[in-house]
Order: sequence, then C-alpha cells, then structure tokens
Amino acid sequence: MCGIVGYVGNGNGVQFLIDGLNSLEYRGYDSCGIAGINGEVKVLKTVGRIKNLEDLVPEDLELSIGIGHTRWATHGGVNTTNSHPHQSFNKRFTLVHNGVIENFQELKDRFFKNVNLVSETDTEVIVQLVELFSNEGLTTKEAFLKTISKLQGSYALCLIDSEDKNTIYVAKNKSPLLVGIGEDCNYVGSDALAMIKYTNKFFEINDKEIVTVTKNDVVIENKFGEIITRDTFTPDIKHGEIDKGVYPHYMIKEIDEQSSAMRNILSKYFEDKKISIDAEIVEKVKEADRIYIIGCGTSYNAGLVGRHYFEKWAKIPTEVHLASEFAYNVPLLSKKPMFIFLSQSGETADLRAVLTKMKEVDKDYKFLVLTNVSASTLSRECDYTLLLHAGVEIAVASTKAYTSQIAILSILAYEVATQIGRKMKFNLEKELAVVTSAIDSILDDKKTIKNIANKLFTERNAFYIGRGVDYYSACEASLKLKEVSYIQTEGFAGGELKHGTIALIEKNTPVVALITNTKLDLNTRSNISEVASRGANTLVITLEKLARENDYAIPNVHEDLAPIVSIVVTQLFAYYAATGRGLDVDKPRNLAKSVTVE
Ligand code: M6R
Repeated sequence: MCGIVGYVGNGNGVQFLIDGLNSLEYRGYDSCGIAGINGEVKVLKTVGRIKNLEDLVPEDLELSIGIGHTRWATHGGVNTTNSHPHQSFNKRFTLVHNGVIENFQELKDRFFKNVNLVSETDTEVIVQLVELFSNEGLTTKEAFLKTISKLQGSYALCLIDSEDKNTIYVAKNKSPLLVGIGEDCNYVGSDALAMIKYTNKFFEINDKEIVTVTKNDVVIENKFGEIITRDTFTPDIKHGEIDKGVYPHYMIKEIDEQSSAMRNILSKYFEDKKISIDAEIVEKVKEADRIYIIGCGTSYNAGLVGRHYFEKWAKIPTEVHLASEFAYNVPLLSKKPMFIFLSQSGETADLRAVLTKMKEVDKDYKFLVLTNVSASTLSRECDYTLLLHAGVEIAVASTKAYTSQIAILSILAYEVATQIGRKMKFNLEKELAVVTSAIDSILDDKKTIKNIANKLFTERNAFYIGRGVDYYSACEASLKLKEVSYIQTEGFAGGELKHGTIALIEKNTPVVALITNTKLDLNTRSNISEVASRGANTLVITLEKLARENDYAIPNVHEDLAPIVSIVVTQLFAYYAATGRGLDVDKPRNLAKSVTVE
C-alpha cells in the first residue's frame, strides 16, 4: 500500500515523478504529492488521484531531485495535511514513506511530548526525528541512520535534504523498494512498474539496508555500515505491457488475457508432453505429510481449489489458511509440513508475517511461493518460486492471477500425484488446452453476459452458491462482485443457506448457483428451488452437459478444472455490474492492489 518514487539527475525529474506515481496509483489512491529542490524546497500535495496532482504542477517546474508518494491512508484521515511528502519543522528535511511505524506513538511521547506535530500520521515522526538528531550535530546520513534504528514496523523511505540537492537517502524494512539505474540520473520506486518506462536495470534493496542515491552512484550499505556490492537485474516486464491499449479498463483487459495466460502456462510448464517443474519442488511436496496453502483474498480462494487437487489426486492432506489468521493463530502443525504461499504481487505483508514466524518455528521448513512477480519480496525470501506467467496485473480486482494460480496448482498436484504412483486417468495438458478454448468462448460471449448482469444485479444484495469446489468459486465470485460493484454479496455453500442465511432472501434478491460437478447437480438445484420459491431472482451457471432451460451454459471441460472456466463468467458479471453503476472498476474505493501493511 502506498507507492513512492524518487529521482536525482541532470534532467528534469518532474515527468518521471508523475509517470511513476501514475504507475503506482494501484497501490493506493487516497491522496498524493511530490516534493523537490529547485533553489528552495517545493511541496505539492492534494487529496484524490494523480490527475489532481498533475493539475497543480506548474508547467515550468524543474526538479533535478524529487520524491513522490501516492497514499493509502493508515494513520490519519484523508486530507492534504496527512498526505505525503512530510516535512520537518524547519523544512530542511522532506520525506515519503510506505509502511506502518508500529511504535510511532511511543516515539512521539518520548521525543515530542509537548510538541504539536503537523499531521496525524505515523510518518511525520520519522522526519521530525531526522531534524532532531541533525540538530544534535549529526550529518544527514547519521541522523537518518539513528532515526531508522528507533523505528519498529515496516517502511520504505526516501528522504531529501534542502541543503544537499544531490542525494536521496533511501531505506527499507518489509515494504518493497527498488533503485532504477538511469543515464546521468537514478530512480527510486516501490516497484519496477514505476520505472520501467525509464529503465530496465534495477538494484534490489534488502531490509535494514541504507542506500545513498546520487545521479551517478548508488551506494548500498548494510546495517553495520559495510558497503554491499550487488548485481543489477532486469525484470521480465516491458513498458507496453502496462498500457491499457484499446481497453477502457485494466480489469476487462486482464479478464480477456486469461486464455493467453493459460497458453503461456502450457508452454512454460510442459515440455515434450511432460510436466516441467523443478524436481526439488516436486520432491519437497511429495515428502510432506501435510501441505499448508496460505494466501489472502483472491489468492486464498485459489488455494481452496488447489487443496481439492492435492487431496483428490495426490492424496496429501492439505489445509488452506488466511495468512492474517495463520501468523498469529498458528494451527497445530504436522511433523513434515510444506508451505505453499499464493500471492499475485509477492509483496503481501500478511504472508511475509507468516514466513517470518514459520522460519522462527523451524529454520528447516520449506516455502514455495506461486507469484506473478519474479523479483518480488516473497519470491526472494521463499525457498522456491513458481511464476504465474500471467503478465502484469494492474486492476485492483485480481482475475488472471486467480485462474493462473489454480492452473499451476493443478499442474503441481498432478505431477506430485503421478510421481507418487497415483493412476491419473486423464491427460492434464490436453484438459488445460480444452479449458483455454472454453475461456475463449466465454470471452466471445460478453454481450450476453453483460445483458444478464444488467438484469440480474439490480438489488443491494446478491448471493453466489455452490457445493464442493463450486462453493470455493462462489466465494471468489462474490469477492469479485462486492469489491468492484459495492453490492453486498456472499458466497455460500448451497446446503448451508437454509441454516440461517435464507432469511435474507427477498423478492428479486439475485442468487447465482455454480454447478460444475455432476454428482452435486441435483443438490444445488434443490437449493436454487428453495430460494426461487421465496422470490429470489435465480441463475445457474453450469456445464453444457448439465444445462437446463434458462441456465448459462459454459463449454464442457474436465470437472475438476471447471472452476478455472466458470469463474470467468462471474468476473464479467462483476465488471459489468460495476461499470453499469458508473464506478471506477480499476480502483475501487478503500482498496489497493498490493497490501503491504498487516
Ligand atoms: O498480491 P496478493 O495475491 O497476495 O493479494 C492478495 C489479496 O490482497 C488480493 O487477492 C485481493 O483480495 C484482491 N483485491 C482481490 O481481487
């Protein structure tokens, strides 16, 4: 959450700061601001989107050094005063911060007891401490280091000093941050997307390191002040990938990209008709007496489907947990656990908390992450990575990452099952190819799906129901609908409705049932009759072979893999329900794409 950028160089950094913030806006969009030195320090901030900030920037503004921030509020309301950059009392130091300073109240009480700080943020304490320590006679770097030594929590920081227009002081702990290498200039950004238009060469920064960035140099020091030599890396993304192209929104672009993501997965994970996954990963999963799949939001929902594969095909007991619960309420673990983390961004703080905690419990535990971002924090910190190869996902609502996660979990489970000696009665590569064509045919049917969405989602509430894996799809379908359309939606196990929730069914309440398992067809249809007879407006999404009149039929695919297909209809429902209400579907209220605070 929150995105930060920095520029120092021979040119004018204003355009970079604005472009960088536009690319990072998906991380938070409550307010934004930039600051830089041009003779004196200039600070421009505003509530709302980067567009508002652009309107504030004078055309002739030139900054050879500058920092910027787009905010997802954690401490203090959404207003200009709480927006970043924040300045020290004497205006000498200016700072942007992504993260949460857990001991900020303690620091405030200790160092600024009877002093009124300007904002309500945790961030301001940092910049005021730099000033305080600098007033004790420390250099800026020493004051910055001393300040950092007092901080508890997560931070990615860029600090500038009005008395030195050549240096940005940078540090991070738990929050992501990269340095980009330019010509006669250098950049800082929360992720590579922020800088990819300007450079494809990056330095990663590790927790607790401090980096001094000047136009011609990047000096990385560890917490003991030792200089670290590090190679640059080039991520697997291209500038064009982050454009919307002909699409009105990223969400629909990314929904549309799901069949090409599937084709990518087929080409990356199959070679000569065989599954191609690092043998050590397969070995570690095979050896496990229990798999723990951990994720948040949509990734958690993908994990629920993944469990089905590990248990049904490989017969390995598998649990799925929400990261935010697991970290502080660790279940009784088996003797030989294997942890599989699911995270599109690879940056989710709740997952990082689990990783830290589990490494403390046993340093020999092994962690695999399925992520879309190769240089992400989780990818660096886990033992093994399987990339989603879905292409950059920018819309806050995750779509193509979800279907890719399920596909890769199926490939891993299938390989493990085969190696364990389970007789698999179908060819996964072929079945995933059928899934890919099925997705294509749903994407070709957008007009019908839009019409259904417009007629169905007219009420304040809606329900998705299903049994077995369809229940997990119902959870994901409802998460998608609620986060972009603000319709109050729940995903329910079909049989559970009558144990309480059915009380919410009124005339016209939309209830959508997902039925992709022949054995559960009649059971779920009974649940649909129960709500229809109480006035609900019902729809069944099912496989062609099970379809009845007025159902929405999706092409027949292997039933275990059907969640990868049926969900696409519901993603389109969410998209059309939101755009039909005139909502900003790519940036729903209160949300951010990458949740880097716990
Ligand atoms: O990057 P991650 O997969 O770790 O993100 C997890 C959730 O924050 C994310 O899936 C969130 O629920 C999305 N907004 C869902 O569309």
